Amino acid sequence: MIKKCLFPAAGYGTRFLPATKAMPKEMLPIVNKPLIQYGVEEALEAGLHEIAVVTGRNKRAIEDHFDISYEMEQQIQGTDKEQYLTGVRNLITQCSFSYTRQIEMKGLGHAILTGRTLIGDEAFAVVLADDLCINPEGDGVLQQMIKLYNQFRCSIVAIQEVPMEDTAKYGVIAGEMIREDIYRVHSMVEKPQPEDAPSNLAIIGRYILTPDIFDLIASTEPGKGGEIQITDALMKQAQQGCVMAYKFKGQRFDCGSVEGYIDATNYCYENLYQEGQ
Ligand code: UTP
Repeated sequence: MIKKCLFPAAGYGTRFLPATKAMPKEMLPIVNKPLIQYGVEEALEAGLHEIAVVTGRNKRAIEDHFDISYEMEQQIQGTDKEQYLTGVRNLITQCSFSYTRQIEMKGLGHAILTGRTLIGDEAFAVVLADDLCINPEGDGVLQQMIKLYNQFRCSIVAIQEVPMEDTAKYGVIAGEMIREDIYRVHSMVEKPQPEDAPSNLAIIGRYILTPDIFDLIASTEPGKGGEIQITDALMKQAQQGCVMAYKFKGQRFDCGSVEGYIDATNYCYENLYQEGQ
């Protein structure tokens, strides 16, 4: 059974400067809740109570968010304002949080490898908190993926069809369709130009990984952009064993970009926001 969810959160968030100069991208609020809190709620909904975060310099606010703010909480105790803390207090009660630091930002693959010390030798989920995923009609995306993992017992990446001109922003897969929404991955390319892309099926920020991925990342040379890419390690895993790609149900907002962030804010304000959450 999968219990742990890893949040790589050490990136610089350069697309969101200057907001991210001294503040973690993961703490940007969508309406009144930081991005990472949405991610932890999704993990908890999927039954994952052990939250592991890969942080870096300037990321202390994440740890403080999932802790008691003693003086302020004393101040508002017994007032109407306490309701605003109900959601995050539930998470603190139900989850355990552990942290490790990525010292040099050598890419997502490297960040996941840095999390090995918190995960150990078991399958785990990965959430990139700047991809906000919402499924108003049923299970959250991680929950959907956990169900699939229980069936296939191999690594699973969440995918989405994107316009062909956008392939250079994503890892892109090619594979054999085994069900309307599931592919067995044959190949993967990191950020291909449209003319080199094997499809328009783009990997988004949700993964279930089996622990053999760690050794595969460790033996992966830096790839595109000089970074250690999770896509390259997953490609090896797909060749040696099995990786599935899953077209999830729901909406995904790329909150690492200003446009996606605005769309998410509008969507959440109109559909999800309730005072006190
Ligand atoms: P991104 O490339 O989207 O994040 O990485 P970034 O580097 O922070 O953003 P930009 O491109 O400069 O605006 C995807 C995820 O991987 C994490 C990021 O925090 C983000 O959640 N990451 C990336 C790390 O933890 N370490 C890294 O070295 C790189």
